[in-house]
Amino acid sequence: MDASKRRAGERAETQPLDVLIIDDEENFLEACSQTLQTGGYRVATAKNGTEGLKLAGESHPNVVLLDLKMPGMSGLDLLGQLTKTDPSAVPVVVTGHGTVDSAVESMKLGAFDFLTKPFEPEKLLETVRRGLSLSALKKEAQAAGAAEEQRHDKYDLLLQGLDVLGEAYSLGLEKRQLLDELAYLESEARYHAESLGQIKKKERAILDIRNELREADAIMKKYDFQKNALIQVLLDIQEKFRWLPRHILSWISGRLNIPLREIYVIANFYEAFSLEPRGRHTIQVCTGTACHVRGASETLTRVSAVLGIEAGQTDSRQQFTLETVHCIGCCALAPVVQIDSQYYRDPSRSKLEKVIKSLEKEEAQACLA
Ligand code: FES
Repeated sequence: MDASKRRAGERAETQPLDVLIIDDEENFLEACSQTLQTGGYRVATAKNGTEGLKLAGESHPNVVLLDLKMPGMSGLDLLGQLTKTDPSAVPVVVTGHGTVDSAVESMKLGAFDFLTKPFEPEKLLETVRRGLSLSALKKEAQAAGAAEEQRHDKYDLLLQGLDVLGEAYSLGLEKRQLLDELAYLESEARYHAESLGQIKKKERAILDIRNELREADAIMKKYDFQKNALIQVLLDIQEKFRWLPRHILSWISGRLNIPLREIYVIANFYEAFSLEPRGRHTIQVCTGTACHVRGASETLTRVSAVLGIEAGQTDSRQQFTLETVHCIGCCALAPVVQIDSQYYRDPSRSKLEKVIKSLEKEEAQACLA
């Protein structure tokens, strides 16, 4: 076994610790650590309950030796919290002031053993060995419990499946048709994730498009699922998703009973619609006559280099879409770049980088809010 020792606050390793010792006596920590490390155990120490709890949360020790009398959080409080946060950890109380009452209280709170200081190294090693065996048994029991829960989940799911199958039959839908439709939606979920350049687990991709289809339903419901509200529905979808994803168009086609090709004719006709994913921010470089003669092509090259995409493209994180336009009505500023609703007169590379960085920062803050 790899013997090592860490203090509270050091980065937790992925492999669980064998023993965490929580005690305010420096000499005791040192002596116990040495004994246990010599015995081949991975050990960490903490000098009070707060540090100890933090380290236990990070390192998931199998056995925790803890003192009853420490400044700040008492050993009994620590014991109570520890058994709640990590039920597979085996706590052992070590104290120089043991009483029958404190021993009984400790056992009630889940202590596995109660050692009175001073004790022989052999006693410590023997207690830790038994504690580790108990911890292994607890972990096995937890794993078995989780497997059992999963087994029940499967049977609950089968019951839901029977409900769905029953409803399908009552709608005149055969099981094969239902499975084909589901398989189609699953393939659309995969296609959608790929078209966004995202790698998702199957279940995540399916849940994501299910949520999007529900949002599309909510929009159609606003218009009472009326066929003649198609353009308004598409405008709302465009606003919501910033583009018209294929699976949503196909869903609308089915829901409103409008041939898909008719929907594509409309989606292709109006400039307001995009059949490609668009970024959350639009950057337009004007290439109209006034801008062109004042160097719009150099401006476009600069913007493209800063964003790492060409005109007409969206970056892989769907943050920015770069496009060219013909006159945005402020020729006096030529050559001009519009970033969302702001206009910039021939922005330098550093100006562009600053604006892009601040937009990225705003987004990161919005995600954290
Ligand atoms: S030509 Fe660029 S703003 Fe008019």
